[in-house]
Amino acid sequence: METTDNSNNTMVKVENLDVIFGKKHIVHDVSFNVEEGEVIGMFGISGAGKTTIIRVLTCQIEKKNWNGNVLVTGLSPSKKGNHSKILSNIGYVPQLELLNLYFELNPMVNVEIFTSTYGMDKKEAKLTAEKLFNILDIPKDTWKKRVKKMSGGEKKRLSMAIGLIHHPQVLFLDEPTTGVDASKRYDILSYLKKLNQQLNTTMFIITHDLEAALICDKSAILREGKLLEFDTPQNLINSLPSNGLVARISIENLNQEIIKTIHKYPSIEKVLRVGNETIEVLMEDFEHNLPKLMKFLFENNFKVYSMSRDVANFRRYFQIRIQEEEEIENRKNNSELMNGGDSQ
Ligand SMILES: Nc1ncnc2c1ncn2[C@@H]1O[C@H](COP(=O)(O)OP(=O)(O)OP(=O)(O)O)[C@@H](O)[C@H]1O
Ligand SMILES: [Mg+2]
Repeated sequence: METTDNSNNTMVKVENLDVIFGKKHIVHDVSFNVEEGEVIGMFGISGAGKTTIIRVLTCQIEKKNWNGNVLVTGLSPSKKGNHSKILSNIGYVPQLELLNLYFELNPMVNVEIFTSTYGMDKKEAKLTAEKLFNILDIPKDTWKKRVKKMSGGEKKRLSMAIGLIHHPQVLFLDEPTTGVDASKRYDILSYLKKLNQQLNTTMFIITHDLEAALICDKSAILREGKLLEFDTPQNLINSLPSNGLVARISIENLNQEIIKTIHKYPSIEKVLRVGNETIEVLMEDFEHNLPKLMKFLFENNFKVYSMSRDVANFRRYFQIRIQEEEEIENRKNNSELMNGGDSQ
C-alpha cells in the first residue's frame, strides 16, 4: 500500500488527515511531508488546530477521532502496538516545563529519571546530558542545584535537553518561546537551530512567534483546521506580487477613503494599513508601477511625507495570507446569505 512506501529520509508523512471530536470537525484534509533534518514552523491563530495535529503525531489522540494516512518515523500512530516505538523515536517538549521537569530535583537527577524510562545506560545518559547542557549554555553551577532555582530561560533550555536526551529523530516543541521575554526569545530559537544542525534532529515548532520562521526550513500556515500553505518562508514571500517588494508610504491624515482610492489604482494588488498614517502597498511590476503610483498620489494632493521600499518579511506574508483567506470566506458567506435570502 502507498502508506508503507516510506522513503528513507521521510520522517513524518501526513496524508488527508481529518480530526473529528463528536460533531466538531477540527482538522480538515491536511497533507504534508517532512524530511530528515528539516525544521518545520507551525503557525496559525489560536484554535487553528496546530496542537491537535501534533497530538495525532505524538500518539495522544485515539484513532476513533481521526482519519488519514499518518507515518511518524515510518510507523503509523493508528496502531496502538506502534506507540511505544514511536514514543522512543520522538521527543516532546510541552509548553509548560512544569510538565516534564521535577522542580525539587536537580537537572542531572531529572535526566536520570527520564533516561531510566527509556532504559538508557546511566553513564551514556550523563555524557549526553553534559553535551546537551553545554550546547544549550546551561551553566555548570546549576547542574547539581534544584531546578526551581534556575532562571526561566534556563528551565526552558533544560526542558529541551530532556526532550532530546534519548536521541529522538523528531522533536516536537509546543510554543517554546511563549512566556520567554523578548530579548531571550531569539536565543531560544538560535539554540534550537544549533541543536538541529549539530544533531540533525527533525523539529516541529508550534509558535505564535512569527520571527521563528527565520530558523525554519518550511512553514506550515493553518487556519480553522485547514493547511493553507506548506513551503519555505522564502518561496511563500516570493509568491507575493513582485516577489514581495513593498512600498511603505506615510500620508498625512490617512483615512479609509484614501486607502480605497489607492487600492483602486491599476496594478495595485494589496494595501495594508501598518500604522496610523502608514500603508504598505504591493503591486505587480514594482519598478515600473511605483513611480506611476507616486505621481498619482501627488496629483491627487495626498500629502505623502515619506516613502521607502522594502521586502515583505514572513510576518507580513502571514498577515496578508490570513487576511486573504478571511476575505474569501466573507465573500462566500455573503453570497450564501444572498442565495439563502432569495430562496426564502
Ligand atoms: N479534545 C477535544 N475535544 C473537542 N474539541 C477540541 C479538543 N481538542 C481541541 N479541540 C478544539 O479544536 C480546535 C483547535 O485546537 P488546537 O488546540 O489544536 O488549536 P491551536 O492551533 O493549537 O491553538 P492555540 O494557538 O490556542 O494553542 C479548538 O477549537 C479546540 O477547542
Ligand atoms: Mg496549541
